[in-house]
Amino acid sequence: MNTCLICQSKISPFLSFGKMPLANGFLNPSDFSSEYFFNLTVCFCNTCNMVQLGELVDRNKMFHENYAFYSSTSAFMSEHFKNASETIITDYLNNVTDPFVIEIGSNDGIFLKHFSGRKIRHLGIEPSKNVARVAKNNGINTLSEFFDEKLSKQIVKKYGKAHIIFSANVMCHIPYMHSVIDGIKQTLAPNGLFIFEDPYLGDIVEKTSYDQIYDEHAFYFSVSSISYLMGMHDLEVVNVQRQNVHGGSMRYYIAHKNAMTVSPSVINMVAYEKKKRLDELSTFEDFKSRVNESKKQLVRLLIKLKDRGEEVIGYGATSKSTTILNYCNISPKLLSYICDTTPIKINKYSPGMHIPIRSYKEFSKSTIKHVLLFAWNHKEEILLKEKNFLANGGKFITYVPTVSFLLK
Ligand code: SAH
Ligand code: TYD
Repeated sequence: MNTCLICQSKISPFLSFGKMPLANGFLNPSDFSSEYFFNLTVCFCNTCNMVQLGELVDRNKMFHENYAFYSSTSAFMSEHFKNASETIITDYLNNVTDPFVIEIGSNDGIFLKHFSGRKIRHLGIEPSKNVARVAKNNGINTLSEFFDEKLSKQIVKKYGKAHIIFSANVMCHIPYMHSVIDGIKQTLAPNGLFIFEDPYLGDIVEKTSYDQIYDEHAFYFSVSSISYLMGMHDLEVVNVQRQNVHGGSMRYYIAHKNAMTVSPSVINMVAYEKKKRLDELSTFEDFKSRVNESKKQLVRLLIKLKDRGEEVIGYGATSKSTTILNYCNISPKLLSYICDTTPIKINKYSPGMHIPIRSYKEFSKSTIKHVLLFAWNHKEEILLKEKNFLANGGKFITYVPTVSFLLK
């Protein structure tokens, strides 16, 4: 029987996708026969409200020197992190002598470059060596290690405590959460803030965006589950703000207990989550039914288009697409190829279903009219970029919140 990674209570599995490959495991044909698969199952803990995976994948299989996700592939995300850095500097660092900022999971430096550019003392922790190298080459002080409590001791010894610890789309990737939060507690200055953001459980449930569920996402956070976790470490959620990125995210502001005033936003969001029944197993059982229905509709649409002789391709070889393709059993017969801008993915094959990944240039040249938008979380950016495709009668198919054609 599985126990909760946070509070050790018994957890209830509510959705199983069966055997799944690594979401970012893009591969060459020579690696098809040795491809790794694991059981993708999601569970709910009725004690601390944490939604989490039932089976975990070894971190070294996911984060290494060929990590396929480069943060700076989205211009909108670059703007998002620029805005975040400017708010942090204005609100929290302007009156601090010799401020020190740490980022956990700093990837290619999309956020920290705004601190290195201003000569603000900073440190990025990024275990995936290829993306860390990009940051280092751009002058960003980066340590290529996994953050945990042990590493935090070395950091404090060498650099002192941090005024800001920032992390985006990383905390939900780390199952050994108690070690990480202990490390943060020890590294954070007495009046410091730990600010992090991750896809929000409330949005995932509301939009049936089940493609957020894959190996790297060990957790699906809510304000309620994060409050429970922080309380176990004598830390406190002092503010929360919804973010319009990655299909709906939550930014959490964490301080040492009783160090700061708690904003009403925290109490309001916990009340909202109760109203949305994010603390009840039945909510996730309903979610499961909608996931099944979404799968049926997507497969039905793709078969209909194929029967009509229409070719369909994918846009954005996202990690999320791995869940959709494998769960819906979409093979190259239904989806010819996926185009993407990330050099390391191009000319490889998608995990599990082995759909070819082609360069974005092929999309610009193609006359294909039906495109399945896997990078739906970047749709504002993509709709703006692909005005010509739309003007020429091209159609984006989405499956979030329901299977439909995207309106311009
Ligand atoms: N912050 C970036 C990258 C998110 S992708 C953004 O929002 O775009 C998740 C990143 O977390 C990867 O770069 C991965 O290498 C990193 N990561 C995974 N486990 C980690 C750990 N224990 N400590 C620090 N980074 C970690
Ligand atoms: P993203 O949705 O950010 O994350 P994840 O992999 O975690 O699901 O991935 C975006 C992918 O889409 C990435 O491989 C780059 C690609 N992409 C494009 O090809 N064109 C674009 O205009 C954008 C914004 C992304």
